[in-house]
Amino acid sequence: MKEDKRRINEDYEDAESGLCELDRAKIYKGLVGLYVDESLITYIDGMNGKLYYRGYPLSELCENSTFEEVAYLLIHGKLPSNSEFSEFKDLLIKERNIPDNIVSILKSFPRNTTRIELLRTAISALSLYDPDDYDYTEPANIRKGLRIVAKMPTLLAFAHRIQTNLPLVEPSENLSHSANYYYMMTSNIPSKDFEEAFDDILICHADHSINSSTFSCRVTVSTLSDIYSGITSAIGTLRGPLHGGANEAVMKYMINEIKKKELVIPWAEKKLERKEKIMGFGHRVYKTWDPRAKILRGISMDFLKKSQNGELIDKIPTKEHDIHDKVDYIIEMTEILSDYIIKTKNIYPNVDLYSAGLLHTLGIPTASFTPLFAASRSSGWVAHAIEQLNDNKLIRPRLRYIGNLDKKYVKIGER
Ligand code: COA
Repeated sequence: MKEDKRRINEDYEDAESGLCELDRAKIYKGLVGLYVDESLITYIDGMNGKLYYRGYPLSELCENSTFEEVAYLLIHGKLPSNSEFSEFKDLLIKERNIPDNIVSILKSFPRNTTRIELLRTAISALSLYDPDDYDYTEPANIRKGLRIVAKMPTLLAFAHRIQTNLPLVEPSENLSHSANYYYMMTSNIPSKDFEEAFDDILICHADHSINSSTFSCRVTVSTLSDIYSGITSAIGTLRGPLHGGANEAVMKYMINEIKKKELVIPWAEKKLERKEKIMGFGHRVYKTWDPRAKILRGISMDFLKKSQNGELIDKIPTKEHDIHDKVDYIIEMTEILSDYIIKTKNIYPNVDLYSAGLLHTLGIPTASFTPLFAASRSSGWVAHAIEQLNDNKLIRPRLRYIGNLDKKYVKIGER
């Protein structure tokens, strides 16, 4: 039997957790370093800069797999057989459309609404049209989860075309998840180069264990709320610049503040002098190179070589990208910055530093960076929601109250 370390004044919750007063006295601000549960989904080796989905190294998945297969792996816990995979892909294709009412909602939003707010609201609204809305069984949760994964790129492409006053392009039934996104954004089919690079970006963002947005998702479903609510919470959490919003912040300082290779170091020196954080660096778990940053860096360098050799890179055409007479190659500036911060601060680049430059190279509008991160991470969120519900325990920590007690209420007219 477990030793009973309770003190007489401790309540039932503490009796259940088995924590002694000494353990309870400690505050884990930001929950740094704490395990909240066990998981079979993702392993991050923060000291050696390695990442595994369901035990498979990320580098191997980027090399050999596709986003659709990785989504299957995360959600179902194993690689699919041929027939399981074709059924899964067909399902995703079938679910790419979004209801007309949601299109009307997208059209009704103020034109300056950020695309991540738009995505958050649209996902929440989609639940109202889901035929499984009030079915909370695991098969229904998987069906709902797949609908979310399938529809996110359509929502983003539609939002983009509405905001830029272009006619909508309905999803294709013959293209991969990655190629179809390009198609809906441009009405053209992308080159293999674009498709493969974009697919790798999606794979790199598909899951990352209990990061802040996944934690939000797990907290929400742990109350036995629904999976749409879990993912809506997660999108709201992802939005912040300390999490998924960092990639947009990186792009903004590169094109609006730094602009030229020779200005990278003076810019960084000033930021550090003022003790400001530089977005795209540092990580709660990695104490070395983020393996996702390494993979995206490799792809970015290949594209840079191609550009320098005069080869054309297939990209989504946006006005935002007509800046290259005023701004140097992002990847070259990124390399200088990365080198400088590692040497001076021993802080390493994270995925957002390199995804920003690569997404920009592919012509993705900056406003879509964080929503695309969400589109990919939705596969991980679904996997985590299902895992949480499989062996659920309400996630409800404690907060130590440090204010005064028994204050005397003074009537408003007498204050
Ligand atoms: N730029 C400059 N200094 C940084 C830094 C950055 N991007 N990231 C961490 N540091 C410094 C902090 O200032 C702190 O220094 P101090 O001990 O002298 O005060 C130290 O490194 C530890 O940072 P801290 O913020 O406490 O670590 P954390 O684990 O709470 O934070 C992040 C992790 C991701 C929130 C943090 O690194 C950050 O804010 N990075 C920028 C945002 C970003 O890129 N987010 C995407 C993550 S994938």
